[in-house]
Amino acid sequence: MCGIVGYVGNNQAKGILVGGLRQLEYRGYDSAGIAVPDGAGGLEVVCRVGKVQALAEAVEGMELPASCGIGHTRWATHGKPSETNAHPHKDCSGKVAVVHNGIIENYAALRDELRAQGHEFVSETDTETVAHLLERYYEGDLAAAMRKTVAQLQGAYGIAAIHADHPQQIVVSRKDSPIVVGTDGSSSLVASDMVAVMDYTRDVVFLEDGQLAVLTPGSVEVQDAAGRAVEPQLTHIDWDTEAAERAGYPDFMLKEIHEQPRVVRDTVSGHLKDNKIVLEDLNLSQEDIEAIDQVYIIGCGTSYHAGLVARELIEAWARIPTRVEVASEFRYRNPIVTPSTLVIALSQSGETADTLAAVRLARSKGAKVFAVTNVMGSRITRESDGTLYVKANMEISVAATKSFLAQIACVTLIALFLAQRKGRLNSRQVVSLFHELRATPAQIEYILSDTSAIEEAAELLKDCHSAMYVGRGINATTCYEGALKLKEISYLHAEAYAAGELKHGPIALLDPSVPVVAVVTESPTRMQTLSNVQEILARGAKVIAIATEGDEDVREIADCVIYIPPVRDCFSAITASVPLQLLARSVALKRGCDVDHPRNLAKSVTVE
Ligand code: AGP
Repeated sequence: MCGIVGYVGNNQAKGILVGGLRQLEYRGYDSAGIAVPDGAGGLEVVCRVGKVQALAEAVEGMELPASCGIGHTRWATHGKPSETNAHPHKDCSGKVAVVHNGIIENYAALRDELRAQGHEFVSETDTETVAHLLERYYEGDLAAAMRKTVAQLQGAYGIAAIHADHPQQIVVSRKDSPIVVGTDGSSSLVASDMVAVMDYTRDVVFLEDGQLAVLTPGSVEVQDAAGRAVEPQLTHIDWDTEAAERAGYPDFMLKEIHEQPRVVRDTVSGHLKDNKIVLEDLNLSQEDIEAIDQVYIIGCGTSYHAGLVARELIEAWARIPTRVEVASEFRYRNPIVTPSTLVIALSQSGETADTLAAVRLARSKGAKVFAVTNVMGSRITRESDGTLYVKANMEISVAATKSFLAQIACVTLIALFLAQRKGRLNSRQVVSLFHELRATPAQIEYILSDTSAIEEAAELLKDCHSAMYVGRGINATTCYEGALKLKEISYLHAEAYAAGELKHGPIALLDPSVPVVAVVTESPTRMQTLSNVQEILARGAKVIAIATEGDEDVREIADCVIYIPPVRDCFSAITASVPLQLLARSVALKRGCDVDHPRNLAKSVTVE
């Protein structure tokens, strides 16, 4: 949550900071602000409530020639969105400015202490304490003041600070919040995400917890908590920058939905060699695999849903008992995890606080933890025993789409890998399933080629107050994800149920004003789901069905049918998810919503 950016170099900073904030806007868009030296021994701070565009308009005509500065785009935690609460925050002298991502847990005690010493606070934020602590400790060396300041902090932080007395320097520190720094030899940058640095350099440093970095034009010096210089660990970013552009699409969500055939292809490619599924990065010996007696999958939101798909496949093919749990619950329980448990942690961003805490808990119990993530160098990759990267490339839209399909492709590979290595499926079966998985991108392309039925379905949904989604087996999960997408971006209430559960309570909600989306694709339980559809229709509710092409039974009873090409049931979560993503987007647009920036949400949830 929150995005921070900093630039120091030879060019004017304001445009670069605003550009960086635009790229980080997915992390929060309650307010945005920048701070730059004013050339007269002080600092100029400009903040606006709302999206970065409001800030861009504010600074456009302003005379801000400085070639150093910091910026912030906020997802509010402490204090409502307002200009007073917007970052950067200053100290009493007005010489220090700070941007922060994270939560300072002991801010109230620190603030009381600082107030007692005469410091005056103007905002309700936890961050302002950092500015006043820097003021308290500053004796001519901002890095030294930062070291003393962070020693007082409890909680999570990625901090960047500037001081008016050092107009060509930024000092940065982090704990449990991502910070990436880099330089192209003349310009040096810091950001919460490499996307805001990539235009300058592809070789970046992900700061470790407790490290500080001092940025000056063309130089990034990394220090440990004691101030000793540390040899920076460079990571090369190979993401393609086109991902940061809409490339002619009206919004990132649509662009990312259309990227899915490529994403699934890239994620799967190269993992079948000599009729064997190879996942070298899992780093598991045959002995390790034989010892696995249960799999635990953890994740949040959409990643949790991909975990539910994983459970279906791992249990069906590898016959290993598999549990799936939301990380925010897992981390506070005492889950039955042992050294023979394989834990798979799913996280697009690799920075989700609850998932990271769950990873730590699982490892403390002796389990091997493998991360499935999209973001190179993200925190989860450093906290896990191994990492499998999904090849989604940068996902900008807050509503996850392409990363979900990439996660499903990735966990499908893991399920096939375990099944083969456990001897539950033979090579012929594995190869045949792999080829079917590899055929799904073409089916997604086909679905994307004609969306007229989806538009028709969106008309049925757009004015309702509540919608229900039902499906069975793997497609109960597809429904959970479809309903989440609708809630996130159209603000319509939606609930998803395993279709057989309807009659145990939720059917009481049905009447002609509550449309139901039913996934009734070809599967061993299609007939049972069709009976549930009849029960729904008998209550007067309208039914939008996702069905397999050629299914005339469904056409006869449903109010609207979205056909998708035939696939084996185990792969239908990949194909059936696509119309549900498009449906949510279309409903949201018809309701006038901004699909890429849903209210109250942020792409990376780095707080509990
Ligand atoms: C998806 O549309 C959501 N915005 C959200 O549920 C997300 O999947 C969740 O916060 C987990 O994020 P992660 O995959 O980056 O850990």
